[in-house]
Amino acid sequence: MKLTKMLALVTTVAILSGCGGKAPAPGTVVPAPVQSGQSGAGSQSGSGGQAGTGSQSGTGNQSGTGSQSGTGGQSGTGGQTGTGSQSGTGGQAADKPGQTKRPIDNSPVVPNPNDITMMINKSVRLPDGYAPADLVEPKVRFIFSEKHEKRLMRQEAARALEQMFAAAEKDGVILAGVSGYRSYETQVWLFDYYVKQDGLEKARTYSAEPGHSEHQTGLTMDVSGSTGACAADTCFEGTPEAAWLAKRSAEFGFIVRYPKGKESVTGYTYEPWHMRYVGVAAAKEISGAGLTLEEWSSKKR
Ligand code: DAL
Ligand code: ZN
Repeated sequence: MKLTKMLALVTTVAILSGCGGKAPAPGTVVPAPVQSGQSGAGSQSGSGGQAGTGSQSGTGNQSGTGSQSGTGGQSGTGGQTGTGSQSGTGGQAADKPGQTKRPIDNSPVVPNPNDITMMINKSVRLPDGYAPADLVEPKVRFIFSEKHEKRLMRQEAARALEQMFAAAEKDGVILAGVSGYRSYETQVWLFDYYVKQDGLEKARTYSAEPGHSEHQTGLTMDVSGSTGACAADTCFEGTPEAAWLAKRSAEFGFIVRYPKGKESVTGYTYEPWHMRYVGVAAAKEISGAGLTLEEWSSKKR
């Protein structure tokens, strides 16, 4: 592979990564696709040593993120804004050379994709074309400085994240965002990357198949400490930031979605950094009882 192509690949993965921690460090900076309609990007500070290395080039292959423009600040159309390319056999972003063709996904579709307590996992997926209608950028610290869809969350979740980060800071724990919203097309690219790297079986233990990732719901943020060390990586376990999140996040409506010891229920390895917003009442019930979202949802029915 040519060096320039390799650099582009590495940096592309770096900017997309967040779950799984198997990709190169997310701190690597690339010129990200600018997303019109976002606001407040200039308000981040102290992003933890990630500022512009300027060494990246040729990053044009950022998995269809161009289709996300204008997502910020949209309002209430019900969330079915139809990015279009997800149906059945399709799904793969056409501009990704070498991308594997996705098989038809026959798993059931979640009936309430816009409900903040909605549950998707390996067995239940989002509707074709799903993109939340109310994505905004939380005004929090991130471990990267560029504009990118991964800054975004649904409005309610974004406000809750701001409150959570502020409360942590009062306790002397400085949190930072690593990876929030991911379009279907981004997940296609990322999952395929992991499959090529680790094989399908292993990739499925830490990365969701397209249509099955909570990052596509806008209700999730991968969180790290301010330096980005151990961002979305197993070494995040045992850090003061992970301990704070485990103890206090429910007060702000977040749960550790893939807990330790519940791998057989969630289908994924422990991810102490993957914070899913479900609202305060549900989060307190789930965390308080040591449940997963799967267990809580089936009890509710
Ligand atoms: N790492 C989680 C499972 C995701 O890819 O959404
Ligand atoms: Zn995650």
